[in-house]
Amino acid sequence: MASNRSSDSIPFLCSCLLLLLLSCLSVSEAQGTPAIAKGLSLTFFDTSCPKLESIVRKQLEKDFKADIGQAAGLLRLHFHDCFVQGCDASVLLDGSASGPGEQDAPPNLSLRAKAFEIIDNIHRQVHKRCGAIVSCADIVALTARDAIVLSGGPDYKVPLGRRDGQTFATRNATLANLPPPFANASSILSSLAKKKLDATDTVALSGAHTIGKAHCSSFTSRLYPQDATMDQTFAKDLKNICPQNASVDGTTDQDIRTPNVFDNKYYVDLMNRQGLFTSDQDLYTDSRTRGIVTSFAVNQTLFFEKFVIAMLKMGQMDVVTGTNGEIRANCSARNSGSTLLSSVVDVAEEFELSNL
Ligand code: HEM
Repeated sequence: MASNRSSDSIPFLCSCLLLLLLSCLSVSEAQGTPAIAKGLSLTFFDTSCPKLESIVRKQLEKDFKADIGQAAGLLRLHFHDCFVQGCDASVLLDGSASGPGEQDAPPNLSLRAKAFEIIDNIHRQVHKRCGAIVSCADIVALTARDAIVLSGGPDYKVPLGRRDGQTFATRNATLANLPPPFANASSILSSLAKKKLDATDTVALSGAHTIGKAHCSSFTSRLYPQDATMDQTFAKDLKNICPQNASVDGTTDQDIRTPNVFDNKYYVDLMNRQGLFTSDQDLYTDSRTRGIVTSFAVNQTLFFEKFVIAMLKMGQMDVVTGTNGEIRANCSARNSGSTLLSSVVDVAEEFELSNL
């Protein structure tokens, strides 16, 4: 009898533990993971374009094998898309008679030309396979996620279903929404707070500077005269790469420790006063963000967790969904005229129906 009772209690114990685990999971989800924006879904293309994510991943594996630096270019592109007018792929649009496009605004001049080519190539492959049903904005969001993963960072599911915007922002709107590298922590915090991003999101997102490169022009104001918060040897090395009044705008890695790996070493750089921009280094100087920097420097798992939360928030800013916007046939131009627009929508609808 006694042994029967104890074996009876094992499944009971297991289900209790399972319940406890599930309740922990839902608590942590409620605490952190942002709600999915209306119109987006984690299963959006499951039936209409099931191969979408593998097409993106496979192509990027090839692209990054040739040049891992492109990962940084794609991650930055998603940020520059989302911060200006929402994640609507407006940064991909060429200028028109109405004025120069977002790409001509100063913060976007250093976006990598190759990043735009990579997006176009993947967009072409996806439309060939699935029909014109996936937006450029979704492709940008997926390539940013894969850039993180394939550089060693955290993986996460991207809510999909964004549609492409039909207008681009002016130069002034672009400048007003993308903070400059010489901004201090106060300015960065208030600029990101306008986008509903808190101090933890701000510090986490800045950790994207753990990969990629920057031009001398983005930080020479900290070298001549030398910023007192900068480590001496680091400053000396940067002065060699970026001599005063040089005719060529050189480049350097943003994270001196592991330049191509998505890890938490950016925060270790900051603690050693080896941050490249004022906007980076001041996160360690400012008392509101210093503790967050330290916590990420000592705990990569925590950084990854907060980074994913912040990316999910950023990736869903002011998204265009439902019947708004369009699915662009070509990422650099809006679909011309209503005839083409409706024919593209028809193709998408037909395709979805045929896949049900
Ligand atoms: C918080 C305010 C931010 C400022 C002031 C800022 C500024 C900059 C600047 C000036 C550069 C170098 C451009 C150049 O000289 O070529 C850069 C590069 C980069 N940024 Fe940011 N950034 C910020 C936030 C972000 C965010 C939120 C992300 C992504 C989540 C991001 C991702 C990147 C990446 C990956 C690069 C390297 C790009 C490459 O190698 O092509 N940045 N950023």
